[in-house]
Amino acid sequence: MAEPLKVSVKKVREVTYEALKLMGVDADLASRSADTLNTADKRGVDTHGVARLRFYDKAIKEGEINLKPNVKLVKETPVSALFDCDNGIGVGTADIVNEKAMELAKKNGIGLAVARGGHHFGAAGHYTIKASSQNLIGVSASPALLLVAPVGGTQKLLGNSPNSIAFPAGHKTLPMMLDMASTTVAGGKIEMAIRKGEKLKPGWALDAQGNSTENPFEVIDVTTLSMAGSLEPMAGPKGYCLIVMFELLSGILPGAATGLKIVGSGGGLGYYFLAIDPSIIRPIDELKTDLDEYFTTIKNSPRREGVNEIFLPGEIEHNIAADREKNGYVLGKAVAKEALAIFKNYNAIDQDATIYDLFKE
Ligand SMILES: NC(=O)c1ccc[n+]([C@@H]2O[C@H](COP(=O)([O-])OP(=O)(O)OC[C@H]3O[C@@H](n4cnc5c(N)ncnc54)[C@H](O)[C@@H]3O)[C@@H](O)[C@H]2O)c1
Repeated sequence: MAEPLKVSVKKVREVTYEALKLMGVDADLASRSADTLNTADKRGVDTHGVARLRFYDKAIKEGEINLKPNVKLVKETPVSALFDCDNGIGVGTADIVNEKAMELAKKNGIGLAVARGGHHFGAAGHYTIKASSQNLIGVSASPALLLVAPVGGTQKLLGNSPNSIAFPAGHKTLPMMLDMASTTVAGGKIEMAIRKGEKLKPGWALDAQGNSTENPFEVIDVTTLSMAGSLEPMAGPKGYCLIVMFELLSGILPGAATGLKIVGSGGGLGYYFLAIDPSIIRPIDELKTDLDEYFTTIKNSPRREGVNEIFLPGEIEHNIAADREKNGYVLGKAVAKEALAIFKNYNAIDQDATIYDLFKE
């Protein structure tokens, strides 16, 4: 059996960037997009890194993504901004909008930046980690392609509202950070099950008739790479209600496309980014002292039998990131082959090249 494909985080970012350039994404947006995707790869969110290239390539070929968008600031106040992202690649344009929220928060204490004309914005946590690393509280959300039917309904009219909240780190403790889909799992986990030949867990997804299924092929049509079935909201009706409320903030508030007005796999989606400078409430040093105490109290609290460690939100991914940055990691071969196919399709690598050639340092 061939060797596992050992890669560095840096090399995966390089391959991601080059692939986006081959697809025709302009250099600045390709660089921002590669950073967004690489944050996910680094943190072990393997569904939303280099594994997404095939999805963007298809969206570009189908004309959903504008390769040379004119990202416009439509309206600005001291604490808010509305953008029109002109249907540019979501993982790149969302980064511009998030940076505006952070800039306003640093200047005026709070920054709310929302957008229309977006596309799939990747892992919601990429944006809040950036805010948290600059001692801001970050909140992010966006709808997603149509994946979910309302509770009691049969028609997919909703996305799964990926959302994230991150706080700055304490003096001694890690930043606490939630990053999740509002369905039981992200759609990317159905794709990963197909790549790995695994079954779905109960409660993840429904087939086209709305019945529970553990067969990923009944949820994703692999010939068209589209959703045949649907995803189940997390926590039943509460997850559904959360999806709706995040769609109001990130889709309806900025005047973006929602429901049947979304084009294909994400054309016209909205974004929501809120950044807060906590020093408008109280001194940051004081906050960090309390964050340390909060973190360690939970971390060191009594554990259930068989549990070795209690984790705070984002801690598992933080530990993976520290390890992957230092030691590299093993990239799944199915994902690597998808990336290689892109390079071959654009004639950017020898037709005999292997995944080992593509990811060679
Ligand atoms: N752009 C899109 O359309 C879209 C749609 C859906 C999801 N996503 C992204 O997909 C990614 C995966 O989403 P998901 O819902 O499958 O995430 P997940 O279920 O793997 O993790 C959700 C959260 O739970 C925390 N967590 C998990 N296990 C824990 C434990 N034992 N103790 C403490 N905390 C724990 C994690 O730190 C994370 O913050 C996210 O980055 C999300 O933003 C994007």
